[in-house]
Amino acid sequence: MTHAPIPGYHYDDPARPASPVSTGELEQLAAATLFTDADVAALKVAGEVLADQVEQILDVWYGFVGSHGHLLAYFSTPEGTPIGEYLGAVRRRFGQWITDTCTRPYDARWLAQQEEIALRHTAERKNATDGARSVPHVPLRYLIAFIHPITATMRPFLAAKGHPEAEVEAMHQAWFKAVTLQVALWSRPYANAAW
Ligand code: HEM
Repeated sequence: MTHAPIPGYHYDDPARPASPVSTGELEQLAAATLFTDADVAALKVAGEVLADQVEQILDVWYGFVGSHGHLLAYFSTPEGTPIGEYLGAVRRRFGQWITDTCTRPYDARWLAQQEEIALRHTAERKNATDGARSVPHVPLRYLIAFIHPITATMRPFLAAKGHPEAEVEAMHQAWFKAVTLQVALWSRPYANAAW
């Protein structure tokens, strides 16, 4: 099946610059979250379970952001008006990110994508992809805080296809580790030398 390209999504572009994070550093960081091959396997199943639920998951997450003015502000003009086109453009890449988190190998190319997503939350690259007239960056503290809602809200979707409880739990733990690992990587441009 072929899909229309997602504007601003360049995961497979061979010209994309490498991440400053090495695969060795990634391995050590993954180990620090207790991420193992069993999690890779659980995420693969999760990818199948979630494939036809991505829009509903995004509805939940966008509902959460949209119902908190101080969070919606990052998708809004500096004067506070939400930018519908910006919300919609990011939503498509956010949906693809769910799939990528479950199905892509965590290799040098994945690291390059993590660095790009990180930068798109910072003043260096936020708004540039969609030409949005929005506020300059998302504060790091909110990226860290979001690990919980992005994880907690996932459980009913992982359970929706009738897998045994132990398997749902394994998928949920793997998802939690994968999100934690990514936010740890995304903290790099905020922390620079301290990372
Ligand atoms: C972009 C995930 C936290 C606001 C994105 C994208 C993803 C993502 C996948 C699209 C990247 C791309 O362009 O391919 C996450 C995850 C988070 C998180 C997993 C935490 C666990 C936050 C928070 C906010 C936020 C707390 C603010 C409330 C944004 C904005 C963009 C974006 C405004 C668009 C950036 C741009 O202009 O390119 N996020 N995000 N994110 N996110 Fe987050």
